Amino acid sequence: MSAPHEAVLVVDFGSQTAQLIARRVREARVYCEIHPPARFAEAASRLRPKGVILSGGPASVYESGAPSLDRDSVLGLRVPILGICYGMQWLTGALGGKVVPGTAREFGRSPLDVTGPSPLLEGIPASSVVWMSHGDRVERLPEGFRTFARSGNCAHAAVVDGTGRLFGVLFHPEVTHTERGRDVFRNFLFRVCGLAGDWTAASVIEQAIEEVRAKVGDGEVVMGLSGGVDSAVASLLIHRAIGPRLHAVFVDNGLLRKGEREEVERTFRSSFHLDLTVLDARARFLDRLRDVVDPEEKRKRIGAEFVAAFRDATSRFPRAKFLGQGTLYPDVIESVSAWGGATSMIKSHHNVGGLPPDMPFTLVEPLRLLFKDEVREIGRALGLPESIVARQPFPGPGLAVRLLGSVTEERLQVLREADAIVVEEIERARAHDGLWQYFAILLPVSTVGVMGDARTYENVIALRVVASEDGMTADWVYLSRDLLGRISNRIINEVRGVNRVVLDVSSKPPATIEWE
Ligand code: XMP
Repeated sequence: MSAPHEAVLVVDFGSQTAQLIARRVREARVYCEIHPPARFAEAASRLRPKGVILSGGPASVYESGAPSLDRDSVLGLRVPILGICYGMQWLTGALGGKVVPGTAREFGRSPLDVTGPSPLLEGIPASSVVWMSHGDRVERLPEGFRTFARSGNCAHAAVVDGTGRLFGVLFHPEVTHTERGRDVFRNFLFRVCGLAGDWTAASVIEQAIEEVRAKVGDGEVVMGLSGGVDSAVASLLIHRAIGPRLHAVFVDNGLLRKGEREEVERTFRSSFHLDLTVLDARARFLDRLRDVVDPEEKRKRIGAEFVAAFRDATSRFPRAKFLGQGTLYPDVIESVSAWGGATSMIKSHHNVGGLPPDMPFTLVEPLRLLFKDEVREIGRALGLPESIVARQPFPGPGLAVRLLGSVTEERLQVLREADAIVVEEIERARAHDGLWQYFAILLPVSTVGVMGDARTYENVIALRVVASEDGMTADWVYLSRDLLGRISNRIINEVRGVNRVVLDVSSKPPATIEWE
């Protein structure tokens, strides 16, 4: 996307929390981008930022080779700057202050006492709790700077220069442990930078549509719809831009949840009038998976079969030279090391799902500068039903990795029915707020039971319910005894072939969320 009229540039000095800084800025409805120091000049001239935020980082500013910016090009923008932790140390160091190793490292929660007036901490109580994570500290401020807050063992926890434009905070306002962190950002953006905060879903949609039109011209786009929120929102945006010149393709691999294909058809074909091709590939996937029990082998075969099926589908649209994708910002942010130069590492950019190089498409990625929660908001604004907007993540290999052992239509049917009950009961009880995923797994064992007077020897269903921020770590969640009882009763009574339900009480790590 080109720059909207109000933007902030976040410089990533190698911080774990640079993405959180961007999230906080965007929550305040100000557009921002994250770039490593080496990209500063390019990003600044394109974005014309109204403010700059310098992130924290693991280095010490006095180390040789520590990440740095060209002082004059930053100050030459003549816009307000907020340096956070390492960013503050770099800023004050660059202006003639002195940064030294602290006598004690400060890590974790710390009290912050406001000692003087400043727009940055306006409205924030005289004492609050902030999150610190630093070893170094500023010993001597540059000329003209003053301090307006102190913390635990740090005299200069928040500082400002004589012009009232250059700020530094040693604490991390971007993390939720800092009690009034959001207010610090809002104050910086609105009181210091004078921004309006008018980056809304409507403006994002308008801009994305313009950009798709500019890129595609009178060309055609083919796009895989997975049923997930990212590809759904991306295809609706592209559809708004070019209408019937978007060809959406949904591959029914037979590994979908109950009702999934029908919901996609109803939503995209009937409600939104997309040109939707549903490829019935159930037989070929099952064929390819026959007698495969090894999880990695399943994943590999499903990936390869998907490419083959998708290739067949796209060959129906020979005029389409563009491929739509639901790539998000976290996949795009370059993990160029803050040190830049030859050691830079660039994360592989797109999740093309292993499309081979002989499919020479130009990518159209209308979400590539958005975070997941922003994509959901745009989905809602586009009228996408909540069942898709708020949908739980679902792995590409689908039910195949929740069905331990060999994949057959009969076993898929058992799992699909059990899973539908899990989802229905949890959602009916409104117990899904705050959950990341909740689903059923079919185990490759049979156990003995008794139904009526007869002995049974049937399948076991496991229940997986987890909370997570991003899928990287997860906690298992205990539903109420009532709800667990209802789920178990219904599965055993309604799903033929199941006589036992068990609960997975493992967190990630060391377990994973999916079982395969
Ligand atoms: P694990 O099982 O690794 O899963 O703890 C973490 C998150 O990723 C999802 N997942 C996948 N998503 N393709 C996907 O798009 C996949 O192959 C895949 N495998 C796991 C999983 O559902 C969980 O949310």
